[in-house]
Amino acid sequence: MSLLLDGRSLSEKLRSEIKQEVERYVKLGLRPPTLAVVLVGDDPASQVYVANKRRACEKVGIRSIVYRLPVNTTTEELLELIAQLNAEDGVDGILLQLPLPPQINQQEVIPAISPKKDVDGFHPENMGRLVARMEDGFIPCTPLGIDLLLKHYGVELKGKEVVIVGAGFIVGRPLSLLMLWRDATVSVCHIHTRDIVEHTKRAEVLVSATGVPGLIKAHMVKEGAVVVDVGISRLGDRIVGDVDFEEVKEKAYAITPVPGGVGPMTVTALLLNTLKAYRKALGKEGI
Ligand code: GUN
Repeated sequence: MSLLLDGRSLSEKLRSEIKQEVERYVKLGLRPPTLAVVLVGDDPASQVYVANKRRACEKVGIRSIVYRLPVNTTTEELLELIAQLNAEDGVDGILLQLPLPPQINQQEVIPAISPKKDVDGFHPENMGRLVARMEDGFIPCTPLGIDLLLKHYGVELKGKEVVIVGAGFIVGRPLSLLMLWRDATVSVCHIHTRDIVEHTKRAEVLVSATGVPGLIKAHMVKEGAVVVDVGISRLGDRIVGDVDFEEVKEKAYAITPVPGGVGPMTVTALLLNTLKAYRKALGKEGI
């Protein structure tokens, strides 16, 4: 059995530090950090994610305001709400829950969010900062959460072979850039990759972010690898990841569980990004 990369317990520790920092600000008479969460439509998974984010904010003293818009909202209506939230001094972060209904032009609404409030890190300006290694931008939450988890467990990345399965813009692409910051050698596999196993077998750190349950089997994993599972799929009444945990845990040096691995770290990273936006808005260093 390999080492469990426990995102739940690291999140508990980090969230208690966030809570203490927020309490110090509020004791000084400052307003609490505030996150606006925008949910368009009634996607069941998104409802659960938004409820989790809201609960996590509440527990650390971050104010969250949820805006629920109907499934038939137009791009213009959403742009109007975003403009209003951009202009609102009391709002530090704006999170637009994805996916959006198909009639909404994502390419238009994401760049409309103020880069200063873009706690998801999806604005092209923040993505550009990630390319340029400018650390004052916002790093997307799942890559940031994975980076913090690997760091906490002392996983050295310099010169290592990191293989990411999944090239999506929420996880795979930004994570590949962050792993380059850490001086890893990075490969990104995607739907057109000819022989995925050839790549995964070389990985010293293997990350899977596809949403295909059980995709990663033991024969695809190098002995002693660190395996990070970003997948969250519902199989009957069970939540499972991309990795066949029972098989792979015998071969890996370390592995993230699902649930309790990357998921809580993503939410913790959102809290950290919101606090960062708040500190910037108030011109505060971390206290
Ligand atoms: N949907 C799935 N993951 C994410 C995320 O990290 N941020 C947002 N806004 N939506 C998501």
